[in-house]
Amino acid sequence: MSEELPAAPERPRAAPHRTAAVIPAAGRGVRLGPGAPKALRTLNGTPMLIHAIRAMANSRAVSLVVVVAPPDGAVEVKNLLAEHPLPERTDFLVVPGGDSRQESVRLGLEALPADITTVLVHDAARPLVPVDTVDAVIQAVRDGAPAVVPALPLADTVKQVEPAPADAPGSPEPVVATPQRALLRAVQTPQGFDRALLARAHATVTQDVTDDASMVEQLGVQVVVVPGHEEAFKVTRPLDLVLAEAVLARRRANDGY
Ligand code: CTP
Ligand code: MG
Repeated sequence: MSEELPAAPERPRAAPHRTAAVIPAAGRGVRLGPGAPKALRTLNGTPMLIHAIRAMANSRAVSLVVVVAPPDGAVEVKNLLAEHPLPERTDFLVVPGGDSRQESVRLGLEALPADITTVLVHDAARPLVPVDTVDAVIQAVRDGAPAVVPALPLADTVKQVEPAPADAPGSPEPVVATPQRALLRAVQTPQGFDRALLARAHATVTQDVTDDASMVEQLGVQVVVVPGHEEAFKVTRPLDLVLAEAVLARRRANDGY
């Protein structure tokens, strides 16, 4: 039989996953005290932002990093990236940020190319997140969860209070409730999303929020938690700088990082 088989019909190929990380880094860092914008402060000589960018680029699944720079700091951030090159496989973009974290993230999302299917949002202020945590979040999204957050159980008991009035800070605050600690999680970043879903959340939700997953929750979409990591803590107050430098020193001693 020399008859040629009819050409197989074109099978639609599954769209490839392409993952980008958006890094909001436009905050001032008021709680850290006076000085340069928080993301540009150094940890063991290297800007926090560079540590955070490397933490994303260390994942082989991340092909693009979008840095949302302080509004007047985009040139400085581009110069820093020239001094501290990323792995060859990782592209980067720098865009200026906005007045709130939410606005900064939105500006980062708007800069994403069309072929990005999965997006991570990662605080520049969490410079030491291990690559295994990044990969676990990406994997959970690729396995079908539209919104994934890394989180840890709480060490402290949490009380809901009636906050002291702004003109009397430090005055005793009545306790309203004590949520059961075992049901609570402290949420970290990177948070991972189906790109179209997160874009829709940012286009729809106008209320102030402190993380991206809560915007997706407001759309009625199920968010899931995967295990976070102690080293993904947020550098917020001066003592956190001491802890971050200690973690880096321990890494250097252990594996020459
Ligand atoms: N962020 C941002 N744009 C803003 C405010 C915050 O991109 N207008 C970023 C910060 O740079 C940080 C992340 O959001 O990486 C988490 O915010 P947070 O830890 O609160 O940082 P800051 O807002 O800089 O700190 P503070 O609230 O103490 O001023
Ligand atoms: Mg803030």
